[in-house]
Amino acid sequence: MKLWGGRFTKEENELVNHFNASISFDQRFYRQDIRGSIAHVTMLAKQKILTDEEKAQIVEGLEHILSDVENGLLSIDPAAEDIHSFVEATLIERIGDVGKKLHTGRSRNDQVALDMKLYVRDEIGELNFLVKELLQAILKIMEENLTAYMPGFTHLQKAQPVTVAHHFGAYFEMFLRDRSRLFDIRKRMNTCPLGAGALAGTTYPLDREYTAALLDFDCATRNSMDSVSDRDYLIELASAMATIMMHLSRFSEEIILWNSNEYQFVELDDAYSTGSSIMPQKKNPDIAELVRGKTGRVYGALTSILTTMKGIPLAYNKDMQEDKEMIFDAIDTTKGCLGLFTGMISTMKFHKDIMKKSAAKGFTNATDAADYLVNHGIPFRDAHGIVGRLVLYCLDKGISLDDMSLEEYKAISPVFEKDIYDAISLKTCVDRRTTLGAPGPSVMEQVIKSYQKMLIEE
Ligand code: ARG
Repeated sequence: MKLWGGRFTKEENELVNHFNASISFDQRFYRQDIRGSIAHVTMLAKQKILTDEEKAQIVEGLEHILSDVENGLLSIDPAAEDIHSFVEATLIERIGDVGKKLHTGRSRNDQVALDMKLYVRDEIGELNFLVKELLQAILKIMEENLTAYMPGFTHLQKAQPVTVAHHFGAYFEMFLRDRSRLFDIRKRMNTCPLGAGALAGTTYPLDREYTAALLDFDCATRNSMDSVSDRDYLIELASAMATIMMHLSRFSEEIILWNSNEYQFVELDDAYSTGSSIMPQKKNPDIAELVRGKTGRVYGALTSILTTMKGIPLAYNKDMQEDKEMIFDAIDTTKGCLGLFTGMISTMKFHKDIMKKSAAKGFTNATDAADYLVNHGIPFRDAHGIVGRLVLYCLDKGISLDDMSLEEYKAISPVFEKDIYDAISLKTCVDRRTTLGAPGPSVMEQVIKSYQKMLIEE
């Protein structure tokens, strides 16, 4: 029997039942549903809409249902329409008629809006925690690799030398922004829809601010129609998760390249690699590839919820039930990827010697050679031309700028002196880049200190 069976004369079609039901996926927020109901009846009793005795019986019944589900003594009935119906029907079955008063002054529309918010709020907390763990892992790598040189790339072509600390610092910044997005969403969504009823509030003297406080919301929502039809926070969360995944995916792509035979910058731990069924020599970066691949499904959730919402008139419409599966999947996927990714980079080995050698090759010091000329009074544009000729000369001979003799330098520009070798050494190229945000270890150290402080102070 449905909650709403009174007005109907026929049992519904089995296929309709199945199509309409959400129990298979909304059962995951049974805790939040029960918590919301307890707050609701507590408020109803405070407002004398229920007696204290009725409240006590209902709360006790709900608490039993919760502990029985947690302990495996009560299984959620897959034939129920949704989690709200299941909890209410079980309550009535267990405590009798008084249980029928639970839904006074409430609709499933404000109830599901509340449950989803409570659930998502908890999950934002977990996502935050996982991003923080990732930040800590990145920071540790930065601390340990302040002077580990590596090539910096643009267009995937060697550009200028940087350090591992500097490269990882870029990701630290990205995930820091991701965290602040999660904080923002949590702050903006933290208003309580309970009491909005089906769409137009109720005639009972509810104390909505009291319920909001019981459930740790900052305040109650101000428009009952918006309360039951707002899913903005899910769109924001899907967008924030899509951005986290985009960052993880870029990072994965780099690790896949670095772990390849051609680069050999890093080696993934055996525990985070997989083998091939045919080629015995293989050690594949499947975890990084899967993270990169799963980014697509999180983007899918964002597109899906945006599309679902775009044509819905006020207020609640059943389309909104479609907000759940995609968002749940996106949350599970993002959480899973964050955890695994942190483990993967924490156990990854850096081949610092190979990275350093690679940084020294490919004319990554050409800009510094030009800067040397500028420091000796040559205008930058001319210096650029001179170094271009040096590079051409080296390419022809198959050598690097460091291998040229002073005579060879002087043949192209008399300005060059013996100190050119020091000016274009890898160490100088990196150490002298000390503008804020650059890889120079002295400035990087300051930045790392500010990151450490950020993570401790929260
Ligand atoms: N399962 C529904 C959902 O997820 C609950 C709300 C049902 N409300 C209604 N008016 N049928 O949206």
